[in-house]
Amino acid sequence: MTLTVPRHTLLAHRMAALRDAATPPEAFRRLLAEIGTILAVAATADLPGATRAVATPMETMTHPVLAGPEPALVPILRAGLGLLEGARRVLPDAPVGHIGLARNEHTLQPAEYLRRLPPDAAARGVLLLDPMLATGGSAVAACTLLKSAGVTAIRMLVVVAAPEGVAAMAAAHPDVPIWAAALDRGLNAQGFIMPGLGDAGDRCFGTEAG
Ligand code: PRP
Repeated sequence: MTLTVPRHTLLAHRMAALRDAATPPEAFRRLLAEIGTILAVAATADLPGATRAVATPMETMTHPVLAGPEPALVPILRAGLGLLEGARRVLPDAPVGHIGLARNEHTLQPAEYLRRLPPDAAARGVLLLDPMLATGGSAVAACTLLKSAGVTAIRMLVVVAAPEGVAAMAAAHPDVPIWAAALDRGLNAQGFIMPGLGDAGDRCFGTEAG
């Protein structure tokens, strides 16, 4: 499995604001969308290419283009929705699937509550979206689910990854490359990423307790 952490000052700049506990939900959502765009650009750089003739106003030339259809975008609900808008700027024709997984806060095990995939996801391949890779349980379950639907070409976009989650993905799905905006120190006793950014779903949707 490969983990790529793109080095880009503007990505780091946005990560500082995203992590900041004082950043309100509206700004948090905008930052997450922008980070989704940057990660989607990085993760699709080597998609298979082809060529076609293009008639410019001056002459006709042979130009590189994307060989196949755009890969499907599949956010893991809820927090993955925060990356979707930004990733769609890069892949505007991509169909969108949804996987609903909720992590039990005591056992940390993910429970599936929704599965809705585009019918041609297997042919297109999938960009799987989730801001958090903590224990890796959700990502591993989502990849297992996608593979059971016949999807073999999976790329995953993550905002903050913990080494524990990266190791879990390397063990269960070594064929799935991951692009992460940051690789953090590790998990605390409650399974939260440290230093992390808190609970991305709650910060996106304004559902923090209290
Ligand atoms: C969070 C996060 C990931 C998952 C990561 O989701 O968005 O999906 O936990 O943890 P893991 O790597 O240990 O599985 P959560 O279950 O809290 O749901 P939410 O996105 O609806 O808040």
